Amino acid sequence: MPKHVLTLRTAGALLAMLALLTSGAVGADQPRADKGDAVRAAHRGAIASAYPLASQAGQEMLSKGGNAFDAAIAVSAALAVVEPTSSGLGGGGFYLLHRSADGADIMLDAREKAPAAASRDMYLDAAGTPIARASTEGARAAAIPGEPAAFEYLAEHYGKLSLAVSLAPAIRLAREGFPLYARLQGAIRYKREQLLRSAEAAKVFLTSEGGVPELGALIRQPDLARTLEALAQQGARGFYRGRVAEDLVAGVRAGGGLWTLADLEHYRVIERKPLVGHYHGARIVSASPPSSGGVALIDALNILAGYDLEHQGTVTRKHLIIEAMQRAYRDRAVYLGDPDFVTMPLAQLTSEDYAAGQRSSIRLDRAMPSAALPGVEPPASGMHTTHLSVLDAAGNEVAGTISINLFFGSGNMIPRTGVLLNDTMDDFSLKPNTPNAFGLVGNEQNAIAPGKRPLSSMTPSFIDTGKGSMIIGSPGGSYIISMVLLGTLDYLEGMDAAAIVADPRFHHQYLPDVVEYEKGAFSAPEVSGLQAMGHRLEEGSRRWGNMEVITWDFASGKVEAASDPRGEGVGLVY
Ligand code: DON
Repeated sequence: MPKHVLTLRTAGALLAMLALLTSGAVGADQPRADKGDAVRAAHRGAIASAYPLASQAGQEMLSKGGNAFDAAIAVSAALAVVEPTSSGLGGGGFYLLHRSADGADIMLDAREKAPAAASRDMYLDAAGTPIARASTEGARAAAIPGEPAAFEYLAEHYGKLSLAVSLAPAIRLAREGFPLYARLQGAIRYKREQLLRSAEAAKVFLTSEGGVPELGALIRQPDLARTLEALAQQGARGFYRGRVAEDLVAGVRAGGGLWTLADLEHYRVIERKPLVGHYHGARIVSASPPSSGGVALIDALNILAGYDLEHQGTVTRKHLIIEAMQRAYRDRAVYLGDPDFVTMPLAQLTSEDYAAGQRSSIRLDRAMPSAALPGVEPPASGMHTTHLSVLDAAGNEVAGTISINLFFGSGNMIPRTGVLLNDTMDDFSLKPNTPNAFGLVGNEQNAIAPGKRPLSSMTPSFIDTGKGSMIIGSPGGSYIISMVLLGTLDYLEGMDAAAIVADPRFHHQYLPDVVEYEKGAFSAPEVSGLQAMGHRLEEGSRRWGNMEVITWDFASGKVEAASDPRGEGVGLVY
């Protein structure tokens, strides 16, 4: 890296530090520390995604002269085809963008929204009890998708290539098929009963006898190829209007759902300011509402900033991280929802003063029972979604977390479209203080309303230390925030990309008041030490998450891309 670039960066970082000292603001929107360093280029591209064919689709764009934003479209669209359990045209998500030319950080909110006919109590029976599976299965569980609109928006406003080019690999994969791999086969086996209830989904994912296809069997999706082609040729209109829209609305309504043509026509992605915080000199850029990810991540980091974590004993260190998680998830449950519908004390929740207040209730030797924190009532006491991280040679970055919610979404594929419907309506709080599929609780802030976007936990993030940066994110429902928090701490403590994605995880989400952990996350002395403090520990029956990380060291120019060993993805550096 040329010397003048380093100098510019150092000057930029100093200026940013000065700005921080004078404003005292944490969580306010500020330019990246090295904004002046518009010339910072990575000289290499990198892509980490949940499946090799999707990472390759992105690479194809970079090699054609496309940028990170074009590659993000190609990766996302390919994932819609080859990882249909996790995201797709019938879903939505959040794309965090960093444009190197001017240092801008942008969040593209492509979250699904409730149809106009949705109502607060639509999943409750006459007695006010949530109806089992009503918000997770079938057409009524589906909100209006955002991902196709995001493709058009990214291509028009940020990309260099046409949609016809960036969607070409996905169209090819859908038409020609791809060989069934173990993880997808497992998901098909797990959801077979549900897939059997949708003739179209069964046609694509099951054998003609309704069985689970063999490993290596070609999964072809000709209807999805046609829908992708409509998008490629007409842009978002090809999905939200005309033949595809009519088929979608007819299919959803035939399944008891509420969509109208107007719902589709009126869907728009929204550019929002990402949330920005600082932790030990690193700049944290993350998703803003309607995702709770950034608020909770910055809230937790602000709490932890008051301790010298690296020099604490390991039990105390993990105890403090758990206590920070618990408080951040409590705030999620109490305060957060769609910013276009509710007001939220975001500046407060992400401020240092607030964190200092939170710290005052933390004891170094004792777990705080969740019930002792003012919040929602404790309820009785729940993988899918996908994340892509992209860096191009110019230094543009994308962290995209996209979803159809649970495995195969609502399990419902609409005839003639190849589109699997999401079941993201379940991310609303169906009833105050009643847990959703991820055990998350909420209140009126996240109640259902027409056109409202349900609160998400997706946490696509950029962590910039001034010496290097990391692009990070993961699926995992409520576990996403705690994973990104641990990944951030790991990065700041010097771990490399492969070690960050592999590191065993632990999680506390306020309610239930339990610390869940993966095998290996705690040593035997840590288990007994944490238990002695009053933590209720539960070793998870399986591991969680599918994290995709890219790290970039500015001084050496070294770029690493790593995909979670829990999944079948791949990180590629070009
Ligand atoms: O937006 C959310 O928080 C959820 N719909 C994400 C779902 C998810 O990550 C499923 N994961 N494994």
